[in-house]
Parts: sequence; C-alpha cells; structure tokens
Amino acid sequence: MELKHWKLTVDADNLAWLAFDRAGEGTNTISSEVLRELGQLVDHLGAMPPKGLAILSAKDNGFAAGADIDEFTSIASVEEAVAFMRLGNEVFDKVAALAFPTVALIHGFCMGGGLELALACRYRVADDGPKTRMALPEVMIGITPGWGGARRMPALIGPAAALDLMLTGRGVDGRRAKKLGLVDAVTPRRHFANAARQFLLQPPAVHRPSLVAAAGDWPLLRPLVARMSSRQVAERVRRDQYPAPYAIIDTWKDFGGDPRNIPNDHPASTASLFAHPTTRNLIRIFKLQERLKAFGKVDPRLHGDDEIPRSGEIPRSGHHRHSREGGNPQPVQHLHVIGAGAMGGDIAAWAALKGVTVTLQDLAPERIAPAVKRAADLYRKRLRQPHLVQAAMDRLVPDVNGDGVAKADLVIEAIVENPEVKRKLFAAIEPRMKPAAILASNTSSIPLQQLSSALARPERLVGLHFFNPVAQMMLVEVVRGPQSSANAMAIGQAFAKQIDKLPLPCESAPGFLVNRVLSPYLNEAMLMLDEGFAPETLDRAAKDFGMPMGPIELADMVGLDICWAVGQELARPGAVVPKQLAANVEAKRFGRKTGQGFYAWVKGKPRKGRADASADVKALADRMVAPALNEAVACVREGIVADADLVDAGVIFGTGFAPHRGGPIQAIRERGRDEWLRVLAELERKHGARFAADPGWSSI
Ligand code: NAI
Repeated sequence: MELKHWKLTVDADNLAWLAFDRAGEGTNTISSEVLRELGQLVDHLGAMPPKGLAILSAKDNGFAAGADIDEFTSIASVEEAVAFMRLGNEVFDKVAALAFPTVALIHGFCMGGGLELALACRYRVADDGPKTRMALPEVMIGITPGWGGARRMPALIGPAAALDLMLTGRGVDGRRAKKLGLVDAVTPRRHFANAARQFLLQPPAVHRPSLVAAAGDWPLLRPLVARMSSRQVAERVRRDQYPAPYAIIDTWKDFGGDPRNIPNDHPASTASLFAHPTTRNLIRIFKLQERLKAFGKVDPRLHGDDEIPRSGEIPRSGHHRHSREGGNPQPVQHLHVIGAGAMGGDIAAWAALKGVTVTLQDLAPERIAPAVKRAADLYRKRLRQPHLVQAAMDRLVPDVNGDGVAKADLVIEAIVENPEVKRKLFAAIEPRMKPAAILASNTSSIPLQQLSSALARPERLVGLHFFNPVAQMMLVEVVRGPQSSANAMAIGQAFAKQIDKLPLPCESAPGFLVNRVLSPYLNEAMLMLDEGFAPETLDRAAKDFGMPMGPIELADMVGLDICWAVGQELARPGAVVPKQLAANVEAKRFGRKTGQGFYAWVKGKPRKGRADASADVKALADRMVAPALNEAVACVREGIVADADLVDAGVIFGTGFAPHRGGPIQAIRERGRDEWLRVLAELERKHGARFAADPGWSSI
C-alpha cells in the first residue's frame, strides 16, 4: 500500500504501530486524504489482523491539531461540508469497530478531530508533561465536534463533563484527563511503548463513567441536563448569534451525538452551521489569530537595522542581512520590568508564569509587594500544583535597586504616564543595559519619538502595549517609533509570542489601533448618558449588537480616570467632553476600583437596574458603534497596521469586539458599506461633525 501520511510497522509480538506523520507539514492535521489513507489502513489491518494496534504521532509537537483548517475553509458548498463530516465519521467508526484492542498514545496537543480519533480507540494513554492538551474546541469556530466526539465523549466520561468540555472548548492536561476518565493512563512519553504493550497484550475492561456521571444520559434525566446546559449557554451567548453551542446540546439530546442523524434543515445540522455567517467569521478570526502568532516567529537575525519593513510585513527571504548586534533569535531569558503598578506588576507576573526570569523594580518594596501577592494568586489558580507555583514565584524577583537592568535581554517600562519622568528613567538606565538588550515602553499615549530622544541608541526602543487585565487580554501592540529598528521590533514581537500573547505590529500614532477605535465608541455612549439614556439601556443595546460587555460597564471597569486621559489624548479639536464623566472624575469616582462610577460596584460587580424595554436598541447600538467603525476605517487608510484584516484582529483580541461579526471592517462589509454610510450621514445631520465619514470608506 502506498502510504503518504501514515507509517505502519508490525513487531515480533504481532502488534501494529501506526504513526501519524502528515507529509510536508510540521504539525499533524487531518485532511480528507489523511482520512482516506487511514480508512484503507484500517481495512488492511482488519484483514490481517494484528494482536493490537497503537496509534501515535511521529511529530514532536503533538498528536494532531484537528481537522485541516485550510481544507475546511476552502470547502465551497454545503454538500462538500457534509461529505467531509461523513468521511471522518465513517473512518473513525471503522477504527472503533476493529476486533482487536486499540490504544491512542497522546503527547502534546490532541485537539478536535485528533481527539475524536483517540476517542475511537479502545484505550488512551497521555503524556504527563505540561504540553499535553486535549480539547474539542470546535465551538470556537462555530461548529460541533462532528467526527464522533459528540457521541463518544459523553459515553466515556458522562454527559455533564463532556458537555462542559465541548461547550467551552477548554483543554485539559494528562492528569485532568485521567481524573475525568478521558484517558486510561498517564505516563511520560518515553514509557509509551511499554504502556501500549500492556494495554494491547493484557487488555483491561474499557473505561465506563461512574453511575452518577452516566445518569445524565438516562432518558428521564437527559432533557434536564440539556436544559441546564442551555441555560448556562444562554447566560453567555444568544442562539441567533452563536448557534454552535446550542447545536452541540441538541445533537447530544435528540440525535445520539451523531450529526449524520440530523436533517439538513435543522439548525443543529452541519449544513445549517456551515451556512451561518458566524461560522465564517469565527473561522476567519481563527486564521487571523494564526497570522498574529506568525508575527512572533520573525527571526531577528533576518533584519538589518537599516532595512525596516512596513508594519506587519514579514521580510522576504533573499533580502536578509544579519543585524549589527548579530544576536541569536534566542528567547528572552531575563526580563526586567520597571513599575510594579497595575500593568507592570501583572506583565512581570505573566512573563514569570510563562517561564521567563523576571526582576521587578519600583520605588519602594511596599509598592512591589501587592504585585507579588497578585502573582501568587494567579499562579495558584493557573498552575495548581504547589511545586509549579513555587517555581514561578522563584522566577519573579523583587528588585528595588534595579540590579536586573544589567542582566536583562529586555527591559519593559510601565511607570507613570509622564514623558519627563519616563525620559529621565531611560537616560539613567540605558548605560547599564546589555548592548543587545531592547527597551520597551508600555505607554498608552506618549509618542515613542518623544521618549527615544532621551536615548543614545533610540533604535532599540519599541512600544509593548499590553491590555488590562494582562492575564486575560491576548493582544500586545508592538509599536514602531520612527527610529525603532527592525531588529527591536522583531524581538518585541517574538517576546509577545514567547509569553503566549498575540503580537500586532503597529505604527506609533496616538492611541495606536485599539484605544483609537475603542475611544469614540465609549465617548459616544457617555454622551448618550448625558442625554438621559440609562446606562443599563446603553449596555443592553451594545450587548445586543454582540459586545461581550456594554460600554458603560466597560468604562467603569477600565477606570474613568483612564477613560478621561485617553479621551483627552485622542480628542479632535472641538470634541465634546461627556459631562457625567467629567463630574465623576472630578469627584474621584473612577468606577470599579473606587466602588462607584456610572454604576455602584459591590464585590467587583456593577449594581444594575432595569434597561428601558421600549428603547430602539438597534438604533442605539448603531449610534455607539458607527464612530468606532469610522475610526477603524481611518486606521486602515493611515496604515496604522498593515491591512484591514489586522484592524479586525487587533480590535477583536484587544477589546472583545463582537467576535461573531468578525471585527469592525467585516461588520461594515456584512451589513454593507453604503448602509453604514447612510447611518453615519443621518447621525451627522442629528449630532454633528464627529460623525463625518472618513475619506477611507471609499476603499473598504
Ligand atoms: P500605576 O500607577 O498602577 O503604576 C505605576 C507604578 O510605577 C507605580 O507603582 C509607581 O510607584 C511606579 N513608578 C513611578 N515612577 C517610577 C520610577 N521612576 N521608577 C520605578 N517605578 C516608578 O500605573 P499603570 O496603570 O500600571 O500604568 C503604567 C503604564 O502603563 C503607563 O504608561 C500607562 O499609560 C500604561 N498602561 C496602562 C493601562 C491601564 O489600563 N492601566 C493599559 C495599558 C497601558
């Protein structure tokens, strides 16, 4: 048999070892060609037959990342989508029907279709290392686990746990998977062969969920479990905007977890989901996320300092020169952070969580202590195991004297937003920095050129603009000043990727991308408050549009002092300042952090009254969103980031902008440019020049 993606060996004990090794790719993904080949192999093995079969991956990074997203996104018709779904089911059903024992040996990531293949095996063994991740994340791209996952996972671990994993897309490591019953054993990868032999030569009884876990599938309880799950989903998302989680519940409850049983016209069918605009938009966002990650893979050696590519461009091969520093593209080993406040403290904590040694400097030890305490809370939550928590704490070193400056590969400044204070600090630390070290500022509003003139080597300064709260926001704007070298940009981008954030190269212009688009939206909402709309009504209108949180609640969360400062920075001449915002700032009612802003805040939550049920929420949302779209168009025109797709990526990952709409530019395309221009013209007539359409609309 001619094999391209699989390698089959049979050993002296008549055990078959089938290694998945997708040809021409560094990562295993499951294409229809991969499936067809597997189908033939399984037929062949069934006829042989061996004593047992172990399925493993020949790639170092993991078992399989899921279905081939490029193939999936190139599917043009509903019929093709349904055929791809059927093919996966048929092949995995053949694996499940093999008469001899089968075991999947899982290391690294085992996602989506990869996990569905593993679930079709009789047993599963997982590597116990920190890189093992098993998940059915289909919901995140608007589809359901369609290759048997929605059937086999509930049967294996009980519906409640399975629905939780499928509805959130959350990943679990080996230990957690063992606890859930998703895998039968956890062991280091080097012991895989032995573990597999044991399962195949002395096959134990297959795993069954506990009685309590299995009870959720009993006919009487099933509707109850489904109702509870639907209720939880409804708290987060609406069915018309996000059909996939509801489809997962329906598939399990009414169709035995098998999408082949669902009529095409049912909203949970593959055909309906495939045709839904949300699915298209979520898949596009997934691909944009991959594009952002790729910005972190730029090799700093590839850039000469005099060869500065445009924002977001990856230099082509053949144009490379080694940088003057001649530095290796080594990951940052030592990070020094100056300023242990809300941002600096959390950036330091996050980097240490991700394995970087961090020294954290502030004016006095008592200013660093709260950041260390927050870090400990974060590590306990994320790492759980005490020795891992301790190791992360050991990597985060308080450093009042700033000794770390001389050792760091990267210094991030996150002190008060004052250009003079920042310049003084830069001048003082630069002579102590390693020659190849890069300096980054977390400033949200000061142009980099104002800061870099304090440096002997201004080319080593970039912006690394993190978002609040650091642990939750994935985006980092990597800001290029007029003098920033390509080398410094590449190191900044690679660092963001190193700590599992999404780097977005941006030009240094006021507000960069994200704050610039967000600010007019918040401002408009606050002006509407002054006109007498209730905050609850405005928040509801925005959520109705699909924002994860309304603008008034968001402003209170961010801090009204910060909203005020950013608003001032970005205000156009003649801009109107929201009166209630000004009054709150004057009275130091800054929102959540002071317990009072537009809302009263109790235990970190706003106290809300009723929204006005008779309000025209669509018109209200249009008025708040239109200024943000207009600003997004201006950012495309000015080239703040490389292209319109990156505007969408930045605004979604930096603000949470309605993901199902695909970002501001996609929202324009979907409803239609002319329709939005009509909305803007009408708003301009009613409310003035701040709604004047940017000249960039003609090229959207
Ligand atoms: P913060 O006021 O919470 O913390 C600033 C810290 O810097 C304080 O602990 C202060 O003691 C320390 N500091 C001041 N001068 C210093 C010096 N010369 N040497 C060492 N430490 C010094 O401020 P926050 O909110 O953390 O902001 C810091 C920077 O991050 C600012 O540039 C701000 O614009 C930016 N930023 C803030 C965001 C936010 O949501 N708060 C979001 C993104 C960026």
